[in-house]
Amino acid sequence: MKILFTRLIQSPLLEQISKQYEVVMWNEENSVMPRNELLKEVADADAIFTNLTDRLDAEFFEHAKRLKVVSTMAVGFDNIDLQEATKRGIPVGHTPDVLSEAVAELALTLMFACARRVVESMQFIKENKWESWGPYLFAGQKISGAKLGIIGMGRIGKILAKQAKALNMDVIYTNRRRDEKAEKELNVEYRELDSLLKESDYVVMLTPASNETYHMMGYREFSLMKATSIFVNVSRGSTVDEAGLYQILRENKIFAAGLDVFEVEPIQQDHPLLSLDNVIALPHIGSATKETRDKMVEIALKNILNGLNNERLLHTVNK
Ligand code: DGY
Repeated sequence: MKILFTRLIQSPLLEQISKQYEVVMWNEENSVMPRNELLKEVADADAIFTNLTDRLDAEFFEHAKRLKVVSTMAVGFDNIDLQEATKRGIPVGHTPDVLSEAVAELALTLMFACARRVVESMQFIKENKWESWGPYLFAGQKISGAKLGIIGMGRIGKILAKQAKALNMDVIYTNRRRDEKAEKELNVEYRELDSLLKESDYVVMLTPASNETYHMMGYREFSLMKATSIFVNVSRGSTVDEAGLYQILRENKIFAAGLDVFEVEPIQQDHPLLSLDNVIALPHIGSATKETRDKMVEIALKNILNGLNNERLLHTVNK
């Protein structure tokens, strides 16, 4: 049986796997397997180890005649046509939980970096502009005592809420469904989106990409936020209308935005958002700690082995 890896993966499990299975792996570190190669290689593959940069749509599944399992090294699976997979009886595995702390930590990193203008300040030094200490030099915003609004109270949202509580923040959230258990356990309060935006000093987007969440933050929603507030997105770029975000930041109607995800990735250098001083942009590194990525690989590999052995995947999104 053949396992197709669309990325170069390292894992101690691979040695054993390659004794039992034919392993075909894209071998360039930081590039995506070209579409034509993907469609060609998947034609006789029994399993695929994929990730958020591959588009597994109807055309892909048309080519994947022998596929028994799809395993994505990610918690998000908006790049996979679940209906097509399910129609063909193919389980789709993903890697939740192990990345929740890392993604929550990156949300905090962006909150702090935006609040204290870390990137601008460093640039200032590099450009040799620092002449003396100044009473309001790069004065930013405080985190302790501020109010955090979380959009999407799933696994990552709950961990972020705990971390924020340890920083003495007030936490409110909005979600598709109200979560009274989380409210009690974490001491957080539910709000409708508009109220959350009006009240929060920090707004963190954690909701998954879907038709319902497409562009859920646009100019109207950003206008509700305080002029001193900070917006952070560590979920998916499609949840934000970037034109609206650009406009609001340009007008200085919010303080800053910290973005790990974009509507089109990689974001192009000439994208208007990158021209703004009040934007911090990162290359989708939410779960990128070595330990987390190792665990994601391990779970994704186990999902494949379980799928090939007709066993239940550790984490599946369609079965
Ligand atoms: C995910 O797992 O969906 C993340 O975006 C990858 O870092």
